[in-house]
Amino acid sequence: MAIRPILCLPDPQLRAVSEKVGVVDDHVRALMDDMLETMYDAPGIGLAAIQIGVAKRVLVIDLAKGDQTPAPQCFADPEILETSAEETVYEEGCLSLPEYYEEVTRPAKVRVRFLDRDNQRREIEAEGLLATCLQHEIDHLDGKLFIDHISRLKRERAIKKFTKAARQEPAAARKADRGPEIRAKQG
Ligand code: NI
Repeated sequence: MAIRPILCLPDPQLRAVSEKVGVVDDHVRALMDDMLETMYDAPGIGLAAIQIGVAKRVLVIDLAKGDQTPAPQCFADPEILETSAEETVYEEGCLSLPEYYEEVTRPAKVRVRFLDRDNQRREIEAEGLLATCLQHEIDHLDGKLFIDHISRLKRERAIKKFTKAARQEPAAARKADRGPEIRAKQG
């Protein structure tokens, strides 16, 4: 296991479309383990492989609070099969956009098919924070960021802010300022 550097906006790799893994073998499991270690270290509640520069459709999530037992969940080749008409709003953040949060509206429930860490095909119905987190992370696999769901004015301001920050200091130096991927439930 290893902690890998997390790419930050405006790194163009974050806009890449990731490729399916097909099979979860030892190589993919090692990637999942590195991603979990990197996510816990950040700390965050979700991480997509592209955020550490690997363009594979793999993501990890752990929604356990600080005082709870860790509950890591690994997803390979996740596909959203169904979304609810009902929507929900969360204040989202992202390890690739440190210290930046905005409210995002998304479907409240999703049904997702994926391969788990043991290469078993599974389907889950998610709601609440897990539904939002899955959609946020699956967006990463398609080169999308949560700022693509906010107003153009806010998005352009955010891009400008991170472009300026990247010019001033390397991303690694900002590690200490990182917040969780998604901060708080708004309703
Ligand atoms: Ni993110």
